[in-house]
Amino acid sequence: MPQTSRVPVATSVPNDLEAFWMPFTANRAFKKRPRLIARAKDMHYYTPEGRPVIDAAAGLWCANAGHNRDPIVAAIKAQAEELDFAPSFQFGHPRAFELASRIGALAPGDLDHVFFCNSGSEAVDTALKMALAYWNVTGQAQRQRLIGRERGYHGVGFGGISVGGLGNNRKQFGMALAGADHLPHTYNREQQAFTKGEPEWGAHLADDLERLVALHGDNTIAAVIVEPMPGSTAVLPPPKGYLQRLRALCDKYGILLIFDEVITGFGRLGHPFAAERYGVIPDMITFAKGVTSGSVPMGGVIVRKHIHDAFMKGPEHVVELFHGYTYSAHPLACAAGLATLDVYRDEKLFERAKALEPTWADAAMSLKGLPRVLDIRTVGLTVGIDLASKPDAVGKLGYEAMERGFHDEGIMFRIMGDSLAMSPPLIVSEAQIGEIFGKVAKVIKALA
Ligand SMILES: Cc1ncc(COP(=O)(O)O)c(C=O)c1O
Repeated sequence: MPQTSRVPVATSVPNDLEAFWMPFTANRAFKKRPRLIARAKDMHYYTPEGRPVIDAAAGLWCANAGHNRDPIVAAIKAQAEELDFAPSFQFGHPRAFELASRIGALAPGDLDHVFFCNSGSEAVDTALKMALAYWNVTGQAQRQRLIGRERGYHGVGFGGISVGGLGNNRKQFGMALAGADHLPHTYNREQQAFTKGEPEWGAHLADDLERLVALHGDNTIAAVIVEPMPGSTAVLPPPKGYLQRLRALCDKYGILLIFDEVITGFGRLGHPFAAERYGVIPDMITFAKGVTSGSVPMGGVIVRKHIHDAFMKGPEHVVELFHGYTYSAHPLACAAGLATLDVYRDEKLFERAKALEPTWADAAMSLKGLPRVLDIRTVGLTVGIDLASKPDAVGKLGYEAMERGFHDEGIMFRIMGDSLAMSPPLIVSEAQIGEIFGKVAKVIKALA
């Protein structure tokens, strides 16, 4: 066999880690003891040496179909050969329209128009801008306030950090957008600890929107944005009835409701979107991650018909919304998205996530009683586990857990300070659920 000229770069170990300033990473600690991933297949990552690491995080909450799935890889390859790039400004390619229709059909109610971008952060900023523009074109331009929630994560754009509620993501970056305000978060350990699924306590916290309406005036608020289940703050399932109450209050005051479903979309909670699980139709849904199972960057916003239609006025040769990205509806992302939706449908992965939820929750709760475990929360195929921090060294235990997990036990999960979060690909088997929590238990027991 002749030698192929392709160098296996993906599996070579770089000898200089300095130049890459890694995002959301403790760079110095990483570069002293790197956690390198070279390859992936289905439920596993592999280190450059070929050691398997079970992926309990779906990468970054995105590989819902599992990694390097053959139909998705084949679709990306075929697309790259056929059409590498086409502008979506004033031109279009067929797969963009097809994918928009497929996503619209998956979304509940009349959420049926889709705007594409490349990430969750862009999706959030797009949705916030659409909300402001909607009021502008419908004669209520005074509605400019944007309401988020404490402990919310809406990406890292200026819009997203303004409505976001994680202090670390805000405090280095100045004043952000004027006019943003926040609802209280919904977590109360005394009332909710060790709940499987949605806690009973906390629906009344939605009523705080009335306080903000009283404070700012009832016609100044453009939109409320919340994650149906905040993930990046270590999984906070919504209290029973909370999202329904928020919808009712938004209706009462004519405020748009945006669900940020960047994590909860595409099966994570056992439904195409969490909106369906909770029986609430928001005015917009943001998505990213799972739409391509993480294989090619893509994000977007699904909007209700009346919002889209409000813009479709005036002379027909004029642009209706002055917003978009060079890579909106990139052909590779659209091909990956279509193939991913096929996998979800053909393998019934959303239904699978729903069926596995009780097994997942039971396995997670089996860690109750381990040293330092203060709370465990589950919903869909997610879990957040809070560990008691070391006095004067908040976050150190979490970091140690991540290192032990990766290097010693062969498992990847997310850490948020001293909390651990897991969200496996939806192809996870019952045996692998057992394996995941067995490894996590070992990690927790070994913590210094
Ligand atoms: C709810 C939510 N919104 C937005 C984002 C930002 O997405 P991205 O990192 O693709 O910009 C995330 C990322 O985790 C998220 O969880």
